[in-house]
Amino acid sequence: MKDIKNICCIGAGFVGGPTMAVIAYKCPGIKVNVVDINEKRIDSWNSSDLSKLPVFEPGLREIISSQRGVNLYFTTEIAKQIANSDLIFISVNTPTKTSGIGAGMASDLKWIEASARQIKKYATGETIVVEKSTIPVKTAQTIKTILESKEKSDSRIFHVLSNPEFLAEGTAINDLMYPDRVLIGGENKKAIILLTKIYLNWVNQKKILKTNLWSSELSKLAANAFLAQRVSSINSISALCEVTGANILDVSKSIGTDKRIGKRFLSPGPGFGGSCFKKDILNLVYISNFYGLREVADYWNKVLDINEWQQKRISYSIVNKLFGTVSEKKIAILGFAFKANTNDTRESPAISISKNLINEGAMLHIYDPKVSRLQIEEELGIKSHETLDAKKGWFFSENINEAITGVDAIVIITEWDEFKDIKWDEISKKMRHPAWVFDTRLISNLSFQNKLNLNLWKIGNSCD
Ligand code: NAD
Ligand code: UGA
Repeated sequence: MKDIKNICCIGAGFVGGPTMAVIAYKCPGIKVNVVDINEKRIDSWNSSDLSKLPVFEPGLREIISSQRGVNLYFTTEIAKQIANSDLIFISVNTPTKTSGIGAGMASDLKWIEASARQIKKYATGETIVVEKSTIPVKTAQTIKTILESKEKSDSRIFHVLSNPEFLAEGTAINDLMYPDRVLIGGENKKAIILLTKIYLNWVNQKKILKTNLWSSELSKLAANAFLAQRVSSINSISALCEVTGANILDVSKSIGTDKRIGKRFLSPGPGFGGSCFKKDILNLVYISNFYGLREVADYWNKVLDINEWQQKRISYSIVNKLFGTVSEKKIAILGFAFKANTNDTRESPAISISKNLINEGAMLHIYDPKVSRLQIEEELGIKSHETLDAKKGWFFSENINEAITGVDAIVIITEWDEFKDIKWDEISKKMRHPAWVFDTRLISNLSFQNKLNLNLWKIGNSCD
């Protein structure tokens, strides 16, 4: 096998786009083609207006503008690019199944299977196939079975590797440039060396871990489960803080300074969102049950229970503080993305909190610096009102000022920088009093000593 010169990535999403952009940037000698069945998405990746890229990530625009058309291409020519490639990344979506066996728990592998079938149909010569998507342990076997089910006269050779992606949205480019580790699972030594060589262009050899296929696949699910478990752990303690007078930031710092625990991923919040934590834990629970490990399944399920409960109890606290009813009350929702520095809203806690409040009769003014009206409409399944004077439902606000005018309460859900510097003395004057601020991220500069005529609720703090 020769060094890799042509890469194809199937799936131009949140992972495929940024990951391939960084590979193209770091490996000028390799041509990278990112393919997708979604024409609109490919058009957005090719847009000359870089603010129209389908993914917002700090640093991404710069890399796209330097590599696109040089050694990085976005195209719908799937067959042609598969045929031309020495190495193919599968980076398609693997959401939770919505019907059939394992519905609501298992990963839907139909896009993985379709990719494997496309590769089998169009690949030529010797091809390395790399799982980038997060998949249930043992999926490589399915891919291999599909690729190897060919006629005897067919002399093509396939090598399947697992190379899960650990980037987090909002910091994707940094995570890709300076990864904690790159994990490669597989059997064929030559294929492993060739994939390793790509990463060696910018990643230290010591950070490239090699395992068998199954350890690699399972490590990805386990890593996400461990991260999510930390968020649920700190959120469970935040509820205890609110009733005991302990302060969650003090507790979090006290826990995190223990080197064995570490300080990261101990920020309380409205619950974890994003497309992966929930689906990957559901998948882990499903696999554990499949292998008869009920206790393991129950253990990880609790991480999800706490996450759902955290979102419910925040909605409940808002209604409770606003005298037990939000009917026809105006509430500003600041932030709709599942975390700051991304336009992704998948599984955002803002969705369930907004739905709960609308169901209670509230009128929401929703503002997020990077999320469009259409995207919020899709997530809520409700259209935005055209004017601010509606009594129930929601209105898409263009800025903070519009969102907060005349409201009874402001709920901060995403930790965007612009919400950290809000001038509360000015905002307070524009609200209807008695007015409330609910800070679910502990980012506002309001304190219980200096509330500026506002009632304040902060997660993990007792406010009575
Ligand atoms: P995504 O939905 O943003 O993108 C997937 C893309 O694949 C879509 O554009 C879709 O049209 C395309 N696609 C599906 N089937 C195809 C086919 N047969 N041929 C061509 N294109 C096809 O998903 P994502 O967020 O990029 O996630 C992809 C995978 O990476 C998932 O398994 C996810 O769990 C994993 N992952 C995601 C993240 C993240 O931060 N989003 C991080 C690490 C791992
Ligand atoms: C997560 C992992 O961090 C990545 O390593 C992984 O590759 C990715 O999932 C994936 O497989 O998709 P991501 O979901 O993009 O990345 O973002 P995170 O930074 O992990 O945040 C997830 C959620 O947890 C967000 O809603 C965030 O606000 C919340 N969170 C995170 C907290 O509430 N507190 C924390 O201390 C950390």
